[in-house]
Amino acid sequence: ARKLGSRKERTLALIKPDAAPRIGELIDIIINAGFTITKAKMMVLSRKEAMDFYVDHQSRPFYNELLQFITSGSIVAMEILGDDAVSKWKMLLGPANSGVAQTEAPDSIRATLGIDGIRNAAHGPDSIASAAQEMVTELCSGPCIALEVIQPNPPKIF
Ligand code: PPS
Repeated sequence: ARKLGSRKERTLALIKPDAAPRIGELIDIIINAGFTITKAKMMVLSRKEAMDFYVDHQSRPFYNELLQFITSGSIVAMEILGDDAVSKWKMLLGPANSGVAQTEAPDSIRATLGIDGIRNAAHGPDSIASAAQEMVTELCSGPCIALEVIQPNPPKIF
């Protein structure tokens, strides 16, 4: 049953290169938290795609390091669906810096699967608006595994 006051949302669960080999554990966490995975796509971001994705951080001192890291290997982009998905996924992730997460939120994804401020396992948009923006990018469009089964004519069982 849906909680009163909650709403179904979609968000982006982006598994970064450091945690991509542990995709199984991350999928378990996502499913056990009650989400439905509606799309999944494994890819390597180009520098241009990474620049667009992190455009809001372009003036930060770590921007180049962040681009280097996010393009360093395969990532897995998943669109996930669930009650209050945006804030719930951020909560599961924990603080951005995995070192900080280990003291402040030891059970969080960043604490258990991440290493430091750069290699922090996974990403999630911090608002419904940024979730919508991030999901229209190549991360959630084009060829992907579409897991939301729509059956206009469901088979009849007699
Ligand atoms: S926040 O919420 O924007 O204030 O968080 P912030 O700590 O600023 O981090 C934003 C993203 O930048 C990454 N980051 C870094 N990358 C490389 N080097 C350093 N030093 C560094 N510090 C922060 C951090 O992992 C966040 O990435 P995402 O993908 O959003 O998790």
